[in-house]
Amino acid sequence: MCGIVGYTGKQNCMSILLRGLGSLAYRGYDSAGVAIWNGTTIAVTKERGKLFALEDALDKKPIEGTTGIGHTRWATHGEPNVVNAHPHTDAKGQLALVHNGIIENYRTLKEQLLREGVTFVSETDTEVVAQMIGKLYDGDPKKAVLRAMNKLEGTFALAILFRDEPDTLYCVCNGSPMVVGRGRSGSFVASDIPALLPYTRKVTFLENRQMAILQKNGIRYYDRDGNPIEKEITEVEWDVEAARKGNFEHFMLKEIHEQPDALLHTIEQYVSSRTGCLREDAFPWTKEEANQLKRLRIVSCGSAYHAGLVGKKFLEHLAKLPVEVEVASEYRYSDALYSENEPMMLISQSGETADTIAAMRMAKSRNQETVAICNVIGSTIARECDRTLFTYAGPEIAVAATKSYLTQTVVLFLLALDLAEKRGWLTHSKVQEQLERLKRVPDDMRAVLARKEQVQAYANRHALTKKMFFIGRGLDHALCLEAALKLKEIAYIHTDAYAAGELKHGTIALVEDGSLVISVATQKPLLSKMASNMEEVRVRGADILAITNGSSGMEEHCDEQWDFPEVPDMMAPFLAVIPLQLLAYYIGVARGCSIDQPRNLAKSVTVE
Ligand code: F6R
Repeated sequence: MCGIVGYTGKQNCMSILLRGLGSLAYRGYDSAGVAIWNGTTIAVTKERGKLFALEDALDKKPIEGTTGIGHTRWATHGEPNVVNAHPHTDAKGQLALVHNGIIENYRTLKEQLLREGVTFVSETDTEVVAQMIGKLYDGDPKKAVLRAMNKLEGTFALAILFRDEPDTLYCVCNGSPMVVGRGRSGSFVASDIPALLPYTRKVTFLENRQMAILQKNGIRYYDRDGNPIEKEITEVEWDVEAARKGNFEHFMLKEIHEQPDALLHTIEQYVSSRTGCLREDAFPWTKEEANQLKRLRIVSCGSAYHAGLVGKKFLEHLAKLPVEVEVASEYRYSDALYSENEPMMLISQSGETADTIAAMRMAKSRNQETVAICNVIGSTIARECDRTLFTYAGPEIAVAATKSYLTQTVVLFLLALDLAEKRGWLTHSKVQEQLERLKRVPDDMRAVLARKEQVQAYANRHALTKKMFFIGRGLDHALCLEAALKLKEIAYIHTDAYAAGELKHGTIALVEDGSLVISVATQKPLLSKMASNMEEVRVRGADILAITNGSSGMEEHCDEQWDFPEVPDMMAPFLAVIPLQLLAYYIGVARGCSIDQPRNLAKSVTVE
């Protein structure tokens, strides 16, 4: 979704803003712009389309100046064109601002401003904010911004540059992230950490309705009433390299390859290197609380929802804890019944997904315990949940979730082991056995990655396939849902995932000569059932690829088989997911798709 950067300092800011916008481009956008104080006025340049259009325009007509703001816009109110692109200004040209989020009461505010004689040029909710601040401005920017902020409903992160204070940026937010930091040459603001990484790893997250005033020599913070406050500095562990493509053609491929390390880093945080046991303080519930749990409600979206489905299998199988998994956009408008001792778990890579946040707030409003699994320190979900289990995937830049999904499933597995022991379903030594095996999984993953050419060759042969089905049972079905989502978003192929036993209740009517069926068959007790389902589609003309846990005897039921080093059934998802991600990736490449920024998609879905 939209991205914000801002800088004030000693250096020329145009290239700083463009670089920052480039590092936020992964979030998805359809226009971009900057506003820079050029010594006489606030000069604004905006372009529709990708960043290079803005870069071209600024190449032709550079803006010199040391204070400015920039934005990548993912259209919500009004089509993606130059007029609707940010930054927006007020009628008198007193200020320019950029905005992430959605102003829910913008119509009411706009009508009022129209009655007061303000003329609007764009269709956006953002211009309403710019015009309103312009109207409220009487020479004191801080007062005008705070007064305007208190009239706004909805979500916003705003960075504002005033003509009368051209070396200062005013920043406020509510429900939309904003992070600020000091570098050697000045002060920076952005909507996401990667934009700040080249300058500093010491950052501060603004909380709802707080204000940061940035100047080249320092940053001051205020509460919603304008009182000065102290803010904590967080050290970000990601480095700049982690947010670069390196030798890989796409971020997605790089991130798929980072999974063995992401798994290791995640294990390191939950398993003590000294004792080799699960860390007492890393998990949310004591033994007594674990035994009181009646049910866990997992709420999330997209790939994070699929991770939740995998987690359900882990938790129910290992810890005998009943789990319900819900899509957040549905859950938030459902009756959402819940009972005592039923915590809600929110899974989110970004920690900023609007529907997941809404579900979290529903839980909080009724005092239901909330636990997050999240990849971004300082994100809204990580801050607001009672407890957060972090994933240690590092920055995920490609829109398609890969390493974040994997690490979410690993955290759920570790939680399941922790609860299994506390609830008396696994002995300590059985848990240790599992942990020992898990620690070797990264090497197994590397072995799977080393065979990527095989996946690429297969993808090239099948890139023009129009119909594709993923089938599996139990854990494998949960995995199939994720595999199908990857293929849809990366390769734009209409596909779906089916519980293999459910095929004959309707879907099998779609299978015909040449249909491609990917059968995920990693769960030993279900192999004979899978074999029958594969035969059912084979006799109807399907071409079958089977993904198996070790050599499993499935080869006679399929046209091609990819096996991975044998692991206990519960760990199969960590390995099986890799060929499935690679398959989507290579088919997408063969079809010439935009891999890291698929059409219509954004990295974090901060609007409903
Ligand atoms: C798919 C994908 C999305 C996200 C979903 C939730 O590859 O990335 O489906 O998983 O938008 O996002 P987070 O995890 O940030 O809440």
